[in-house]
Amino acid sequence: MSLVMRGLMMMVLAAVLPVAAQDFGDTPYVQTPQPVVDAMLETAKVGRDDYVIDLGSGDGRMVITAAKKRGARGFGVDLDKRLVALANANARKAGVADRAKFYARDLFHTDLSAATVLAIYLLPEVNLMTRGRILALKPGTRVVSHDYGMGDWTPDVEYEMDAPGKTVGRNQRSKVLFWVVPDRMAGRWLWSMTVDGRKLPVEVLLKQNYQKLEASATIDGRALPVESATMSGTRLDLVLNIPGAGRVSFSGTRINQALDGEMVAGGTKSPWSAVRTEIIDPAHVIAPPPVIREFPL
Ligand SMILES: C[S@@+](CC[C@H](N)C(=O)[O-])C[C@H]1O[C@@H](n2cnc3c(N)ncnc32)[C@H](O)[C@@H]1O
Repeated sequence: MSLVMRGLMMMVLAAVLPVAAQDFGDTPYVQTPQPVVDAMLETAKVGRDDYVIDLGSGDGRMVITAAKKRGARGFGVDLDKRLVALANANARKAGVADRAKFYARDLFHTDLSAATVLAIYLLPEVNLMTRGRILALKPGTRVVSHDYGMGDWTPDVEYEMDAPGKTVGRNQRSKVLFWVVPDRMAGRWLWSMTVDGRKLPVEVLLKQNYQKLEASATIDGRALPVESATMSGTRLDLVLNIPGAGRVSFSGTRINQALDGEMVAGGTKSPWSAVRTEIIDPAHVIAPPPVIREFPL
């Protein structure tokens, strides 16, 4: 093809490609409509104590809204320097430039450790590329995503909503997906419980894949039915059916190799604690946190 023809083709392409579809990195720039931003922040229960990081922050709407409407702080990163300049200008206009900052930076070279909430609107494959790092964040960190999931890490909350003004898709609808980074809860947990005047050992074996638990239990060496075993961040909730005591619930927070909390039996609450006698690796892959020299604060 002659140089003239090639030049002409480039001009035609530039004319037909909309500005909003310009590609920076793997995920093109598409805005999250404001009602969806509001819903995402509500779903993540963002508040004054939160530090929100937006990976691929566009015009800054997520962190700016978190600062202005919810009193949070945070930053966004984007590869597109013009969008970063626009986001910082928008933060100044909104009067939150001291609490919402934007950096021209690759999300893969961004330290995420300050986040209590991570907001993303990235393509599914980019979500998957960041998943291992997200799972290595502090347990309890909340993650909220627009439209796309995290492969086999199923969300804790997922819903669809109207997305007026959305510039992609046919039906002006959006998905909101929400996760809590799970702690490493898997292992063998032991405590003792008094039933009919006898102090008996209770042992629960927990296997874990993301936040999903598979539990088996014994009391004094005899198998016990487990009614439910759920976790969120560092909190564990168990319900066991114990002969002589009935339905008993145990709730606790993990600190090192201990769980501390309370148990409820027959409507009576009492303190409860358990120790972990064996640690078992979860089935899901947790990437070691990368060494990142850039620090944005
Ligand atoms: C779908 S837009 C979302 C914009 C904004 N978060 C919102 O919801 O309105 C994705 C953004 O990610 C940015 N992006 C893509 N790859 C990136 C990367 N590797 N590092 C930082 N930003 C990236 C794009 O430039 C784009 O602005």
